[in-house]
Amino acid sequence: MSRPEFLDIPPLVGTAGTVRLPGSKSISNRVLLLAGLCAGTTRVHDLLDSDDTQVMLEALRALGCGIARDGDGLSVTGLGGRLVVREARLFLGNAGTAMRPLAAALALLSATQGGRFELSGVPRMHERPIGDLVDALRPLGCRIDCLGQEGYPPLRIDGGRLALDAPIRVRGDVSSQFLTALLMALPLVAQDRELIIDVEGELISRPYIEITLALLARFGIAVRRDGWQRFTIPRGAAYRSPGEIHVEGDASSASYFIAAGAIAATGEALRIEGVGSASIQGDIRFVEAARAMGADVREEANALIVQRGAWPLRAITLDCNHIPDAAMTLAVMALYADGPSRLTNIASWRVKETDRIAAMATELRKVGATVVEGADFIEVAPPARWRPAAIHTYDDHRMAMCASLAAFNPLAGGREPVRILDPRCVGKTFPGYFDALFGVAQAAPSSIPVLTVDGPTASGKGTLGSALADRLGYYHLDSGALYRATAVAALRAGLAPDDEAGTAALARCLPLRFESQRALLAGEDVTDTLRLEDVGNRASQIAALPAVRQTLVELQLGFRQLPGLVADGRDMGTVIFPDAALKVFLTASAETRAERRHKQLISKGIPASIQALCADLEARDARDQNRSIAPLKPAAEARLLDNSALSIEASVEQVLDWWESVQPFGAS
Ligand code: DC
Repeated sequence: MSRPEFLDIPPLVGTAGTVRLPGSKSISNRVLLLAGLCAGTTRVHDLLDSDDTQVMLEALRALGCGIARDGDGLSVTGLGGRLVVREARLFLGNAGTAMRPLAAALALLSATQGGRFELSGVPRMHERPIGDLVDALRPLGCRIDCLGQEGYPPLRIDGGRLALDAPIRVRGDVSSQFLTALLMALPLVAQDRELIIDVEGELISRPYIEITLALLARFGIAVRRDGWQRFTIPRGAAYRSPGEIHVEGDASSASYFIAAGAIAATGEALRIEGVGSASIQGDIRFVEAARAMGADVREEANALIVQRGAWPLRAITLDCNHIPDAAMTLAVMALYADGPSRLTNIASWRVKETDRIAAMATELRKVGATVVEGADFIEVAPPARWRPAAIHTYDDHRMAMCASLAAFNPLAGGREPVRILDPRCVGKTFPGYFDALFGVAQAAPSSIPVLTVDGPTASGKGTLGSALADRLGYYHLDSGALYRATAVAALRAGLAPDDEAGTAALARCLPLRFESQRALLAGEDVTDTLRLEDVGNRASQIAALPAVRQTLVELQLGFRQLPGLVADGRDMGTVIFPDAALKVFLTASAETRAERRHKQLISKGIPASIQALCADLEARDARDQNRSIAPLKPAAEARLLDNSALSIEASVEQVLDWWESVQPFGAS
């Protein structure tokens, strides 16, 4: 059985610094569609790069739009309202912001110009309603079939005959995306008549309609709005590319950092760049709700500066209809409040990426909160006792981002890590979310977990360490590379192998950086040089010099960063990280190691003999084991792993089993 992917967030105690938000999902996908429908080329800056925008871009490409990277932006050359591809199957993932407006636009284009299109998504997309939009389009003469259950995707759009005499009606009380879809699509057929849309039922999520109207205006369509019940697209309306357009940072994504600042920015403020008082996104009003709970927020046109105000946070009761997405963040802020908080008018949560009311209730209970849920509300009371929790995320980016905020529990009497299952679901709107969080979050160094892998040369520590770091989402310190890089510098400087002071001086200001698996020494890629035999030999010699070892200690400690570290070497568990949560001592017989190294060298075209390699390894083992300082030996509590007969995968699984046994999460 394969293990669930997870990311463990250690207990966090503060935030400070600056975070730059990714582009808004709602704006990005609207801009892409409008640019794709209008004539000419639109340069889009600061576009969000995420799962949802990817599916929109792929759909536009499949429909014949020109899409090109353009410096730091993206150029979209639109269709000018003319279908160039008449048959396509579009896969739209779980992106409601792609499914709904594309369905409307293609239905109208296909009814006037012919064409057959199938729109589908992931299974959850096929559970998200689209019936109200289909019901609005069919009376206009569009032929649309629901290929699975009536009222849900997948859809087939197949011609029809447009009849715009009947009034256009759409329900507004399930999702505002249906109205948005019509507003963005109907200008395609408004050449010779004014088009009036009447909204039936109470329109929800109005701020998203305001985004739609603001962006339509940028593309030359001035929609007239009468209250929230009637919208008029003027006769002769035609999309006009603004030429160039900037996408604001995502205000919903900002909510996690506003919350983090309100909870944990106790010293220096947290600066959030990309949205501010000039934002056109409704979720910017999350700021008011956060203030009501005690956040201290200053606004600039394009930035927010947040600090903790009231503490504990103040419990609130709030109608959240105006900020449905960001309101999820309030549910998590409620964990830090002085009483139960009640969020009402949130029925739309139930038809989002998952049933968010049920999901939030279940997961917040896991950390210890008391939660009451209703058809359209949730009430959250803070934990009396925090518990370590493995949070299910239901393929919902917002569940994952929200849950990460529970890791600040030490500020409210806890000291628990939080496990996020399937953390990659944040890719829907904020692929770099956890990096951004760890960039501004603070933890006590001793609470940042370390897993050490020590062992003799060529035992496979590097391969194992790097695979473990990948699986855990942790940093990887290949400490041997630090000794090898020092050796390269010493060899190049012509130092004698026993020049302790000279080598230590070089190690002290070693211009070494690691970038995506490559080692750079003074900017030069030395990844392959580090593996050369003479470099390894010199590394082994200088590693016996106390001053060199001492100099490299600080550098190694610096790798202990959020969310955690896998460190491999000779003395990671014994000397550098004696408090590591798990220590592994990896061995393999000298013959096995010599054979592995032989294979490596031969594959690189470097001639080698197994006997010589074996003798060399044994000599190096003896030197590493017998040196006076930090000799190679298993830490007292290390788990021994002889991988002579194990595949890499089997070794990784074994260590992950051990890792699980020292985690507090239990069965999730
Ligand atoms: O693991 P490796 O072969 O890349 O290490 C190169 C040399 O560095 C090795 O001979 C011993 C030394 N070393 C050390 O003494 N302590 C460490 N933590 C890592 C490596």
